[in-house]
Amino acid sequence: MNKSLRKAIIAGNWKMNKTRPEAKELLEAIKPLVANAGEVEVIACVPYTNLETAVNTVAGSNVKIGAENVHFEKSGAFTGEISADMLTELGVEYVVIGHSERRQYFGETDETVNKRTKAALAAGLKPIVCVGELLWERECNITEEVIARQIKLDLFDVSAADVKKTVIAYEPVWAIGTGKTATADQAEEVCSFIRATLAKLYDQATADAVTIQYGGSMNAGNAAELLSKPNVDGGLIGGASLKAADFNTIVQAAVNGQ
Ligand code: 13P
Repeated sequence: MNKSLRKAIIAGNWKMNKTRPEAKELLEAIKPLVANAGEVEVIACVPYTNLETAVNTVAGSNVKIGAENVHFEKSGAFTGEISADMLTELGVEYVVIGHSERRQYFGETDETVNKRTKAALAAGLKPIVCVGELLWERECNITEEVIARQIKLDLFDVSAADVKKTVIAYEPVWAIGTGKTATADQAEEVCSFIRATLAKLYDQATADAVTIQYGGSMNAGNAAELLSKPNVDGGLIGGASLKAADFNTIVQAAVNGQ
């Protein structure tokens, strides 16, 4: 397994945090710290209201900006929604899709995750598609069934060329915001299962080209061990992405783990 076949990506998911001045301040602090990240892609996924500020703040740096959701229709009577074209026009490059908080609190299903993923790709956005099992699903020993089902449905009808532009984030729901991190071995087990599932759906070369992140209480203390695993190509970071120094420590762990 060769990690150099794919990009290491560290992405912050700010969730519902930061006003525009706060967003600017955090990004200004992050920029110089991560300037030496080299081949590691550094992304901040921020609330819609911060996108324009964020894109302007990181201009000329190696930090990329992502949104936290996108609607699947091109335009129309969908009050409160934001289209993929609206995001690309702003200079947004990535978008988180199917985060477990969207699945849990906002009725997101694998069908809508699939629609959003295809709409994002069609508009030139790179989707970060989130999958992960609930605690009781893990306890019932059906983690692999759950993940395989999500991968198959979320990527239905997505071409091999497009899946190579897609990032998969493995986020066990029980590890999100709980301080309870999956062990590096647990993360590797599922990330490697995701790659094997992609190899079955597409082919090995395609599967080897896809960046698979771990997310769920990844922090400055545990990132290096998680990122040392052969199939953990990056991280999707919640809480720790709101602190410039901690986020940078995770980025540097990815730089050193390459
Ligand atoms: P925490 O890092 O706060 O656990 O959140 C993880 C997450 O949901 C990233 O998308």
